[in-house]
Amino acid sequence: MRRFLLLALLLATPAVAQEEEPSVLPGGPGQEEVFYACTACHSTAIIRRSAFDRNRWDGLMDWMTEVHGMAPLEGEERRQIVDYLAQHFGPRGGAARGRNPFLP
Ligand code: HEC
Repeated sequence: MRRFLLLALLLATPAVAQEEEPSVLPGGPGQEEVFYACTACHSTAIIRRSAFDRNRWDGLMDWMTEVHGMAPLEGEERRQIVDYLAQHFGPRGGAARGRNPFLP
């Protein structure tokens, strides 16, 4: 049974990766903005596995623009996107990351 579940997971993964929707990200203000601003170049997996504080996310926006050619994010849109990232993908796990079952 365990082996079957693993296989099912492996088979399902590519389909999920190709058909990402905003709902793969945690809900809340900024969810759609982040999804559409960021998935032009890569999937959300690269975001979901990250855990940065607000400063680092903010700096990453410039890096993405300068090095990878992302359209510059400014003003209210930038604030909302960086707030969202810091809230859900912050250094201590953020709201999006479940509890680590191996820690007390
Ligand atoms: C114009 C294309 C483009 C856009 C738009 C873009 N990125 Fe990226 N991003 C890249 C490239 C290219 C890399 C490097 C990929 C790699 O190393 O495999 C990257 C890497 C990253 C990384 C990994 C950085 C690290 O040091 O581990 C994160 C996190 C990230 N992007 C977040 C975002 C977020 C959040 C957004 C939306 C605000 C975004 N990206 C929009 C091109 C883009």
